[in-house]
Amino acid sequence: MVGAALATIHQHKLYRTSTRLIVSGASSISPIDEITRRQLASQQAVAYSQIASTRPAVEAALKAAGKGRSLVGSGGPSVTAIATGEDPFVTITVTDGDPQRAAAIANAYVGVLPAVKNKLEATPNAVTGPLSVIDAASAPSAPFSPRPLRNGLIAVVTGLLLGVGGAFVRETLDRRLRDSDEVETAAGVTVLGVVPQDMPDVRLPIESHPMSSRAEAYRKVRTNLSFTSETGMPASVLITSSTSGEGKTTLATNLALACAKTGQRVVLIDADLRRPMVAEYLGLRNGAGLTNWLTGRSNLEDILQPFGETELDVITSGPIPANPSELLGSNRMSDLLSQLESRYDMIIADAPPVLPVSDGLVLAVLVRGVVLVAKVGDTTRDRLRRSKDAVIKVGGNLVGVVPNAVVQREDSAYAYAYRYRSRDDVDTLELYTSQARLPEVDETGTPLWDPEKQVRRRKFRSSSRSG
Ligand SMILES: Nc1ncnc2c1ncn2[C@@H]1O[C@H](COP(=O)(O)OP(=O)(O)OP(=O)(O)O)[C@@H](O)[C@H]1O
Ligand SMILES: [Mg+2]
Repeated sequence: MVGAALATIHQHKLYRTSTRLIVSGASSISPIDEITRRQLASQQAVAYSQIASTRPAVEAALKAAGKGRSLVGSGGPSVTAIATGEDPFVTITVTDGDPQRAAAIANAYVGVLPAVKNKLEATPNAVTGPLSVIDAASAPSAPFSPRPLRNGLIAVVTGLLLGVGGAFVRETLDRRLRDSDEVETAAGVTVLGVVPQDMPDVRLPIESHPMSSRAEAYRKVRTNLSFTSETGMPASVLITSSTSGEGKTTLATNLALACAKTGQRVVLIDADLRRPMVAEYLGLRNGAGLTNWLTGRSNLEDILQPFGETELDVITSGPIPANPSELLGSNRMSDLLSQLESRYDMIIADAPPVLPVSDGLVLAVLVRGVVLVAKVGDTTRDRLRRSKDAVIKVGGNLVGVVPNAVVQREDSAYAYAYRYRSRDDVDTLELYTSQARLPEVDETGTPLWDPEKQVRRRKFRSSSRSG
């Protein structure tokens, strides 16, 4: 629109006017019947129209109009003439920067055209029918060009086409995951929970903001994980992703805490020996840890650290080794997992991403379940698909995917989950505050995951509300 407006402003104004002439017939041929006379006149009209736009004709018309010859050429008038050949009419159209001059030139044609024709045609006695005016040209009041309305319309249509086309191309080329549905499709496994983009500086919302939507999402992952195997929670879960910074450590720490708060004995292992962050996230000392065990220098008691007053124990990474993949793939690692399995209800391991390094895949084989985190709006569908394929190829048990940093209002699945959650807020609050250390049970002590019980309670609540 701006381009069209600028072009319109800077365009020279041009005025266009037309005159209509008639060839009245050749008086030199006599007697003549009416049909032949008309046919001849029509041919004459065509001959006039062909001559009208030639340079001699335009010059003659300019001179007759008293406007001077110098205007012929660039910046001067442009002349077009039309005759159909079926009637004796010639329409001469003049376009010029001056409306008066355009009309004067057009009106001069009737006088100059027969003479010019005689001069140009080689045959000395060529028949030249007299011309007379039917419609004289008048000076136009509005310019023929530029036409702001037309330019505006062209601008709107072009702008729309470019915009829609551009958006379409961008959508096609942009391979980044846009919402949780795309994550589910690309990963080919169930979404365990949709973690919204919220409070980017808060590392442990489960602890500090238990009522936030993010904390709720981590609890949902915990609940859904318990349905991924016939025996409930997989005994050991590896949290990984395609690339770095997708939210693995955040999910691993918060999930571990969420599980510990239901009374499960949980151990969280920082198996990211390249960029270990668990100790920092939980505010623990990264002293003796996983690498000390893997190199055979420490026993289990040395490396287990309790986290506050919770049921959560943590094994930090320990010193960063030079050969993480080999260490993680050693028998000591599988040894550690089996020893921990006998002591804890659940093992959660934070791993490096699977695409850049092999550590994650090495660990994927050793654990009972693998969870992929996918950062929406950042990681691409292809990367997620490749990660999934890699996990499955090495024989890992991919139990689910967690879309992270989902923009809440743009995600249909999230919007649904959020609406659904709001009805249950009260339950969550009660559970969280009064029974944080016990398995999730309702007021009568019945486990919450009994679907029948949940249905009955909701019915009761809604009827009491309406009553
Ligand atoms: N849902 C979320 N909303 C807002 N911020 C988030 C969310 N999830 C993670 N973050 C932030 O993103 C950053 C990266 O998260 P995190 O360290 O968990 O990623 P990572 O996958 O473990 O990274 P790395 O590959 O380096 O180990 C952190 O600052 C974290 O607070
Ligand atoms: Mg991490």
